[in-house]
Amino acid sequence: MTRTSSRVYKITQEGAFAVLAKAREVEAKGKNVIHMEIGEPDFDTPENIKRAAIEALAKGATHYTPTPGIPELRKAIAERISTDLGVNVDWKNVLVTLGCKEAIFASIMSIVDDGDEVIYPNPGYPAYESITAYAGGKPVPLRLSESNEFRMTPEEVNELMTSRTKAIIINSPHNPCGSVLRKEDVKGIVEVAEDRNAFVISDEIYYPILFDGLKHYSPLSFAKKDNVILVDGFSKRYAMTGWRLGYVVAPSDLVEPMTKLLNNLTSCPNQFVQYAGIEALRGPQDSVKQMVKAYEERRNAVMEKLKEIENITYLRPQGAFYAFINVQKILSRVGMNSEQLVARLIEDYGVAVLHGSSMGAYGEGFIRISFANSVENLIEGISRLKRAFNNMLRR
Ligand SMILES: Cc1ncc(COP(=O)(O)O)c(C=O)c1O
Repeated sequence: MTRTSSRVYKITQEGAFAVLAKAREVEAKGKNVIHMEIGEPDFDTPENIKRAAIEALAKGATHYTPTPGIPELRKAIAERISTDLGVNVDWKNVLVTLGCKEAIFASIMSIVDDGDEVIYPNPGYPAYESITAYAGGKPVPLRLSESNEFRMTPEEVNELMTSRTKAIIINSPHNPCGSVLRKEDVKGIVEVAEDRNAFVISDEIYYPILFDGLKHYSPLSFAKKDNVILVDGFSKRYAMTGWRLGYVVAPSDLVEPMTKLLNNLTSCPNQFVQYAGIEALRGPQDSVKQMVKAYEERRNAVMEKLKEIENITYLRPQGAFYAFINVQKILSRVGMNSEQLVARLIEDYGVAVLHGSSMGAYGEGFIRISFANSVENLIEGISRLKRAFNNMLRR
């Protein structure tokens, strides 16, 4: 018998945290580093939300709550889904979690048995692959590439479907590619899933962060069967990463098993944080609009500045706050992989980005730039990238 379970080795960690730690180490030695690696809004949580938490604390909201969250927050989530996505959701199908990550964990763990297949975007958010493997399932990557605009089409999904396909994970707007699924993509993927009785797990954490007037489509609005699991959270659009607040909208038959799982994991979300969540959803939404506007301005500035760099290719991100840049030509010429390149960029050039391989095997050859920094810093960061690539290629 080994001391550790074999299951625990199937888990991988998010690379962005490791890159941030490396960048901080270099900073501690006195070197200036521009941060473009971490997927965390640089904005502070809006004041009205912070005030609501403080008031809740003052009133004694420091206790356990029901496992799926306080009814008022579950109702506020259902209301916002109906306002923003145009879909009616019963608040009893809403389960509050500690971040979208716990929502993803609970969703996959509640439906995946040994050998069940889960189709997921690769490159993509690493938890999809990691948790599927942890659950004993088989992660089936759907390769996103520049040639398909980093989108997932129903045809591509259909090709990967087998009798063991339990779920298809979609994420739009997409981390790390900044791509957005079109209406026909989402509708078609729901149809493919329903035909084969598979679930669609839809990670919509970036849904209002859309550019160029684009619209978000949730699979919930096309579903004819009760097969869609929506996972979402407050981290990105309300700049609430550290509060750890998210939710699942689960099909009715999954509510009870998922509640039991969440009860064993965390008992309940923090009580005072849930009151802050109600304020986030029901209070003014101006700060969300301002942040989205700032991300779009940064996207525009980044796209303009990137034109100065040779030997790279990239698409114009349509949502989220990332640009995914193909640096394969540079890697081949300098004989490095993306992780080695990122280490060199931090140490020698004072610029931190995320290596594409940390977002899945098909992310190799790319780096991710996050717009969670000021325009001024992003421009300086890209200047450093330009200098770095020019120097490396000259040698
Ligand atoms: C696509 C995606 N889903 C889920 C999460 C997890 O967010 P949370 O902070 O709510 O756990 C992230 C965080 O980066 C993400 O990018």
